[in-house]
Amino acid sequence: MNMTSSAPAKTILFGEHAVVYGEPAIAIPLLNIRTYAKIHPSDKEFRLISENTGMNTTYNELDPASGIKKLLDLLMDELSISNLPPVNLQISSDIPIASGLGSGAALSVAVIREFSQYFQKHLSNERINEIAFEIEKIYHGFPSGIDNTTITYETPIIFSKSDGFTRLTADISKLPLLIIDSGIHSETVNVVSDVKKNYDNNKTYIKEIGSLVKTAKEALGNGNLKEIGKLMNENQRLLSQINVSCKELDHYIGIARQNGALGSKLTGAGRGGNFIVLAGDPEHRTQLKSIYESMGLRVFL
Ligand code: MEV
Repeated sequence: MNMTSSAPAKTILFGEHAVVYGEPAIAIPLLNIRTYAKIHPSDKEFRLISENTGMNTTYNELDPASGIKKLLDLLMDELSISNLPPVNLQISSDIPIASGLGSGAALSVAVIREFSQYFQKHLSNERINEIAFEIEKIYHGFPSGIDNTTITYETPIIFSKSDGFTRLTADISKLPLLIIDSGIHSETVNVVSDVKKNYDNNKTYIKEIGSLVKTAKEALGNGNLKEIGKLMNENQRLLSQINVSCKELDHYIGIARQNGALGSKLTGAGRGGNFIVLAGDPEHRTQLKSIYESMGLRVFL
């Protein structure tokens, strides 16, 4: 029997926004937070069914400008089929939307993998990544490609637009990290376009973020938690300078620091969404988790 296809969330540890301008950035997949896609044969026309949003629609009812419509069109071309078959494409997701964890790219990759499985046409990771990147352009405006790449390859990476990605060998899964949802929705396309509008004021900070990422790669390689935390704080300061933080994120990040976290910063586009916190050790991570949960926030480990 065919398995359900899926793709994970991602979090950017260092370098968001600057990566759009050619600087390197470091991201990891969150393997336990996933989007699932499954095709079930039906005796009626093709329907897209989303468990999270309650969407239940035919292909013709989809917004022609939407990412999912474009994805289905690209998949029909890729698989050389002129019509979608009579099936239900069922989607469900654990990934919060518009929250910096790559929900859009995970949806694309999960659907591409499911079509490839259902139509028994092998697609390489490279091809899956290329198709997902096309859809990112609809969701993000000027995507760097880091989200779809981390999510397709499901491995920690350092990425830049010119050099593509290199897998990181450091065991990042051992970091006592928390990923916390501020609950504030923020559309990547808006934040990325504001940074672009202000590029002349932002460019010095963007360069600084780029050099910080190179130092962070060394610190991750050495497992130097104190240094990693310090660099997270410094990255957050630079992100505030390019105006992608917000008062709520500053407040939550301040709480991490007051409670002894080694570092904390927003992750993804910012102005809401998720932030990450580096605890001193696993026990400290549990304490920090309780603090945020008692404030009603959703915490991922
Ligand atoms: C979004 O997850 C990361 C940004 O750097 C945009 C991008 O790289 O495409 C803000």
